[in-house]
Amino acid sequence: MKNYYNHLTASLLGVVLAAAVGCPAQFQKASVSPEESSVNTSDDMSAPEKERGKMSITKESFGKTPEGEEVDLYTLTNAHGLRVKIMTYGATITAVETPDRDGEVENITLSLDSLEDYLKGHPYFGSTVGRYANRIAQGKFSLDGKEYTLATNNDANHLHGGVKGFDKVVWKSEPIETDDSVGVIFTHESADGEEGYPGKLNAEVTYSLTNDNELKMEYSATTDKPTIVNLTNHAYWNLAGRGAGDILSQELTLAADRFLPVDAGLIPSGEQKSVKDTPMDFLQPQAIGSRIAQVEGGYDHCYILNKKDGEEGLTLAACAEDPQSGRVMEVYTTQPAIQFYTGNFLDGTLQAGGKTYKQHFGFCLETQHYPDSPNHPEFPTTQLKPGEKYEQSTVHKFRVR
Ligand code: BGC
Repeated sequence: MKNYYNHLTASLLGVVLAAAVGCPAQFQKASVSPEESSVNTSDDMSAPEKERGKMSITKESFGKTPEGEEVDLYTLTNAHGLRVKIMTYGATITAVETPDRDGEVENITLSLDSLEDYLKGHPYFGSTVGRYANRIAQGKFSLDGKEYTLATNNDANHLHGGVKGFDKVVWKSEPIETDDSVGVIFTHESADGEEGYPGKLNAEVTYSLTNDNELKMEYSATTDKPTIVNLTNHAYWNLAGRGAGDILSQELTLAADRFLPVDAGLIPSGEQKSVKDTPMDFLQPQAIGSRIAQVEGGYDHCYILNKKDGEEGLTLAACAEDPQSGRVMEVYTTQPAIQFYTGNFLDGTLQAGGKTYKQHFGFCLETQHYPDSPNHPEFPTTQLKPGEKYEQSTVHKFRVR
């Protein structure tokens, strides 16, 4: 009876997420909002009050850091049974569980099994990254005529916030519930001078799961001195399920006519190059692995998103699809760029759920500002001044076809 019930639940989940459409057409011109692309996920239980009754948010202990700080794990479940888990250490997403076209549920984001495993070190699986996602050359930049030196943790460069970035702190947390979403507000106060950054930064990120099968990430920050900020989430996706194999046959579309060429240390030269006639072109859906051999080291590049001048709202940035499982993930963002990274440095040393994460077992779509922006006045600015509010959002929308 129990097995029958599980099977029925799984099948219903598949039906609820099913839609005949894959990644949207006219993608490269799109300036589509998640609402416009909405797939009708409603069934006979679509009334908001009924859906509300089916959402849940729970909190459990996930262990303690060596310093004795309690780490909590939240589980968000929406009315259609999609489940997202996020822990307070690094405001880290540890699971995004979605059904395939047959209703089989998998965690489609790379994660580890215990807090101890996360504490041993990992390449930002699901982490909230700050203060500055991506690289700052030589860990140096100038602001208002003063030079600042940041912690260097990637050869001579600063990467993802430094030695102890936002991925390695325990965030304060508070659950929130609305009529059609459940979420957690994470806050962190970063002291003036932390990792070399000027100003006390108050950072906030709210992760929420809606009944439209969207995972929303809403970032904000304020400072008491001029500083720089560039926040993102570093989830690794494998639409077949974590540890299921490589992602080379999964297809990707990116709303980007241009990308930033990089040097051997992955620092942008400053050139903004057209993707036309290169293996960097994802304007039409392409299997991630179809041309990866032509890209030295694999994809690890910042794509400049096609946005209209002054466009500030959410626009469709990326769409990924796994032809095998039928899972589709759209990514919308207010950010100007996206770092597409194909897990090139995953080397089989990390394991979870009895599976080993090898090279290309996950891909990242990190929505963000351009790398090394503080040293490129021609790039959109990442400066934040007292009295201003940094605000960015990214939405991941899930379905199957
Ligand atoms: C970077 C990669 C890096 C990875 C893990 C990505 O954002 O672009 O070069 O290896 O993060 O740190």
